Amino acid sequence: MARTVLVTGAGRGLGYSLTKKHLDIGDKVYALYRTLTDELKNLAAASEGLKIYHCDVASTESVTEAARNLLAGEKKLDIIYNNAGVYRFDAKTGLEHTDIDAGLEMININALGALRICKALWPLIQKGSLVVNISSEAGSIGGSRRRQEYCYCMSKAAMNMGAKILSNELWKRSARVISIHPGWVRTAMGGPDSFASKYSVSPDESAANIVNIAVNIDDVPRDQMYMSHTGDILPW
Ligand SMILES: NC(=O)c1ccc[n+]([C@@H]2O[C@H](COP(=O)([O-])OP(=O)(O)OC[C@H]3O[C@@H](n4cnc5c(N)ncnc54)[C@H](OP(=O)(O)O)[C@@H]3O)[C@@H](O)[C@H]2O)c1
Repeated sequence: MARTVLVTGAGRGLGYSLTKKHLDIGDKVYALYRTLTDELKNLAAASEGLKIYHCDVASTESVTEAARNLLAGEKKLDIIYNNAGVYRFDAKTGLEHTDIDAGLEMININALGALRICKALWPLIQKGSLVVNISSEAGSIGGSRRRQEYCYCMSKAAMNMGAKILSNELWKRSARVISIHPGWVRTAMGGPDSFASKYSVSPDESAANIVNIAVNIDDVPRDQMYMSHTGDILPW
């Protein structure tokens, strides 16, 4: 049976690939974008199952407005992808040169954005719903060896904590939450080096792996929440 899916940050990059993949397998997709791209506009024109709405996850007003459209037409979302995210390349520094105030933007979008979305769509998170936070290995405290990138890493660690608490809260509803590292993805965020590296992954390949985990979530033990797109468990 066709699933009903929501993707944030769907205008480009991994979010666009997640949208395409779910349409390919016959699902109905709500794709939320901050910037409308020609690709997403054309996909919407060509796909009956795709609805697109503007949504800036940094703004409660914008999220509430986007959610109104879904709440009017749906009773349940099967999968919610909190994919929208930001990385500031100028934040790739040690503490001495870190712009702490600029870090607030990353924490607002990457960590609080996912909670804003889930809060606004709360009535649609029902038995069997799955929330997929597109996190990063950068959010792992146990696995961290970095000496820089404070605010991005902190934003993803905070996103992970949000996922864990949400998972605890949703236990009674039999809804689940997972936190996925999508790999080093060949997108604007992955940066120019990602396009040349053999260690990176295309957004379509990463999306296919993530969708495979999401649609087969019953095969993943409930306490396995934080993993890579290939299913490898990551330390919190
Ligand atoms: N690429 C990697 O190597 C990598 C590695 C680990 C984790 N990730 C995570 O994977 C996710 C997708 O990244 P990506 O590689 O696809 O990056 P990307 O190509 O830079 O795309 C980011 C997407 O997020 C959207 N976005 C940013 N701020 C937003 C906001 N306030 N509200 C709504 N949408 C917003 C962007 O919209 P605009 O077009 O309006 O900017 C864009 O659609 C992110 O959460 C990222 O942290 C990526």
